[in-house]
Amino acid sequence: MKERWGKLGFVLASIGSAVGLGNIWRFPYIVGENGGGSFVLAYLITILIFGIPVMLLEIGAGKHFRGSILTVFKNIKEKIKWLAILPLVTGFVILGYYLVVTGWSLAYFVFYLFRNFIQFSAFSSSKLPLFFFTVSLIATAVVVKAGIKKGIEKFCRYTVPFLFILIIILLAKALTLPNAIEGIKFYMKPDFVRFISPKTWIFACGQALFSLSAGYGILMTYGSYISKKEDIYRSTGLIAAADTLIALLGALLIFSIVFSFGADPDQGPALAFITLPKIFEVMSYGWLFGIAFFMLLFFAAITSSVSMFELIVRNLNDELKISRTRSTIFSTLGLFAIGSLVVFSIFSLESLDFIFGTLFISLSAAVTCIIVGWFWKPEFLMREVEKQEKLDYRHLTVKGIFNFIIDFIKYSLMIYLVKFVIPVILIVLFFAELFGI
Ligand code: ALA
Repeated sequence: MKERWGKLGFVLASIGSAVGLGNIWRFPYIVGENGGGSFVLAYLITILIFGIPVMLLEIGAGKHFRGSILTVFKNIKEKIKWLAILPLVTGFVILGYYLVVTGWSLAYFVFYLFRNFIQFSAFSSSKLPLFFFTVSLIATAVVVKAGIKKGIEKFCRYTVPFLFILIIILLAKALTLPNAIEGIKFYMKPDFVRFISPKTWIFACGQALFSLSAGYGILMTYGSYISKKEDIYRSTGLIAAADTLIALLGALLIFSIVFSFGADPDQGPALAFITLPKIFEVMSYGWLFGIAFFMLLFFAAITSSVSMFELIVRNLNDELKISRTRSTIFSTLGLFAIGSLVVFSIFSLESLDFIFGTLFISLSAAVTCIIVGWFWKPEFLMREVEKQEKLDYRHLTVKGIFNFIIDFIKYSLMIYLVKFVIPVILIVLFFAELFGI
């Protein structure tokens, strides 16, 4: 029998997976590039309409079939199992470049710790990014190799609460900076023209899925280890709430600092690694702030990396019958190859992030919804999520009628979202972006 999460293990590990570079590095710069408040609003809507249903779907299917994405697709319909390649490749490539940025975070943490700072341009043209990427990759592999309970769960039990404490301390300082209010204003300011642009929505969908770790098989993998008693609604709510809170606080943290020092929020991926260090240099106790900030970034990244790594290892292990140790070694070698291509700029990080972290992630979520929604009975999915065998409405009491109405709304909403709304919208947005509409 496969391992099972311990008490709160699933929620902590999934929060660890969700909260990552996506919240603290990616979300603020995407907000900065896409007009501030209007993007934040679109993002919150996509979390509710796309993110949460896809999470429920993945966790329910993973629990039902007790397997990751390839096992789930294979059990639903053998002939279409190869479609699982899309989420698997998406997760694999994302992890490849993700570990490069994880390495940058580790490097900056070490620089601040020893107060020996190197500018990003000098850093990126040295051998250091390769070194720190390799260290991050090995650290991730070691945690995954140790297994679910002794590796991932144990690791997340310590790191996830620590992340919350760190971000609160950082925010407490950032909000007291002069002019921090300007950052808050930018963050809240709506821009109607941007709000109705398809670009805003494809980025919002991509970011919501990326951040919740939904749509590319991670939650299916983690869901396959949950116990029968797990309350999936409650756990999903907790994970989504924690992830969204940290993203909103992460952006608030960065914008308060950026605006307080009159820097430009529209700086792309460099925002955290070029702009912030410049500010830390002139800020009082900036080096201390730098240590805490890059430690936050590194730990957030590594708890997410382990989940993407587990996705690959679990599929190799279950479907190709390769032992956990060997699967870990093969994945490490493959990831080293992809990451090295990014470190040496043979693949552009920004392009990979856009293609896989925004476009393919949306397509992969759409395919997952179509397979689960159309080839598997959504009623089975709901039964899994609901924890109960069959709903009983035989007794026409007020409570019975009330339960019936609530369940009817939940069922229809979820089934229509999964079968029609999510795949159609994601596919339309995917092609709109692909053809530059
Ligand atoms: N969900 C992870 C993040 O947001 C991948 O960074």
